[in-house]
Amino acid sequence: MRILSIQSKRCSSAQFLVFRAAISLSCLLLAIGLMLSSDASAEAKPNTCVECHGNSKFLVQNKKIFDYFQEWKASVHSGDITCDDCHGGDPSIADKEKSHFPGVAATDEASGVHFKNVVDTCGGCHEEILNGFKKSEHFQQVVAEKQEDQGPTCVTCHGSIDVKVLDITSVADACLHCHNEESDNYPENPEIARETLSGIHSINRFYRYIIRRIEPSERDAFFKEVDGKLHHLAITWHTFDLDEIEAEVSDLLNQLTKKREEVRAQSKKIKEEASN
Ligand code: HEC
Ligand code: HEC
Ligand code: HEC
Ligand code: HEC
Ligand code: HEC
Repeated sequence: MRILSIQSKRCSSAQFLVFRAAISLSCLLLAIGLMLSSDASAEAKPNTCVECHGNSKFLVQNKKIFDYFQEWKASVHSGDITCDDCHGGDPSIADKEKSHFPGVAATDEASGVHFKNVVDTCGGCHEEILNGFKKSEHFQQVVAEKQEDQGPTCVTCHGSIDVKVLDITSVADACLHCHNEESDNYPENPEIARETLSGIHSINRFYRYIIRRIEPSERDAFFKEVDGKLHHLAITWHTFDLDEIEAEVSDLLNQLTKKREEVRAQSKKIKEEASN
């Protein structure tokens, strides 16, 4: 049952937002299966990491530990995705030392959050993104024997416990840390990233405009294609192949701009007909 309960965590509730993560499809199907089977919901098992770390006594005894728990509570991962999913350890044992075995801290090589393991840990659920990331120069840097230029892991850009998505203002900062005049490592990348993300935000806006106004008979086919492309873009993004990313963004922008004009003209026509 353990495997199933882990698997079910890996699936997002179908959230309706563009550029949503490429969460593993097999997972999603599994979760739907679980939801349909009647006894699935009864499976909430106690989790000793969460129970112990959530104890309010730490507010006084160990403020740092308390704060980490609060960060997790507030994160998109809270609830279903628990400490052990990222850190490792055994969430069925109440004793601290045994539960932490063989290592849960970022400095422990056995832990899922150790620098060398964290990409696979995050990628265990964000599988397609991981596959994209493995094609990047960043990944080459992460796995390099000698860490001359450190490459970013998932955590460098998204944060760790309180994972964040980046926006137009924060994205350049996330790159600037390593890509700047001083490091002389592609200093133009932060600005390119900002512009690209800005294009993606326009895509989001047009998407929301169109979906509210498109003819119902057209809707499914249109968004099936667009969603497929967006899904692909989330993966391509993590290859950090800037030319390819720009090509996909501009293709989507063109398609959505055109559709938006069509839909706008259509609703104008309907309004005019109604007022005549
Ligand atoms: C160099 C920075 C960087 C690295 C490294 C990186 N990402 Fe991202 N990631 C981004 C940016 C920028 C976006 C697009 C904006 C956003 O949604 O945060 C993004 C998007 C995402 C999303 C989609 C968020 C949504 O809107 O649904 C997920 C999930 C994600 N990344 C997970 C990962 C994982 C897992 C790894 C490691 C295998 C990783 N990222 C590595 C920068 C990075
Ligand atoms: C019975 C209480 C208890 C349980 C169960 C427990 N922890 Fe802890 N954990 C602590 C305390 C207390 C600390 C503070 C450091 C210490 O006392 O070792 C801590 C520290 C940590 C740290 C920081 C380690 C470091 O060296 O900085 C991590 C990460 C962690 N726990 C994760 C987990 C995970 C994951 C689980 C479940 C597999 C878990 N804990 C289960 C009480 C617990
Ligand atoms: C989505 C993955 C994820 C989840 C879920 C998560 N953490 Fe973490 N946590 C991390 C990562 C990654 C780091 C290392 C940060 C870094 O590399 O700077 C970390 C760091 C920590 C630290 C600082 C000590 C250390 O290991 O370096 C503590 C303590 C901690 N987490 C406790 C917890 C507890 C307790 C929970 C559950 C209530 C939890 N985390 C849930 C990913 C996670
Ligand atoms: C056990 C599975 C699991 C693990 C491990 C995991 N994630 Fe997630 N992650 C999810 C799910 C499920 C969601 C919610 C997806 C959704 O609602 O679209 C999510 C959402 C996200 C998002 C999007 C947040 C948002 O607001 O849209 C980012 C970014 C992300 N994860 C990054 C990471 C990073 C970085 C790590 C590793 C430190 C990680 N994840 C580890 C399952 C996981
Ligand atoms: C922790 C440091 C670090 C961070 C943060 C980082 N990079 Fe990189 N990046 C590197 C290193 C190191 C290389 C490899 C450079 C080389 O090959 O000499 C690289 C290479 C690249 C390349 C391939 C080289 C090229 O321009 O063709 C791209 C593209 C890139 N990064 C984009 C980004 C973007 C976009 C961000 C922010 C979202 C980012 N990077 C954040 C360290 C980082």
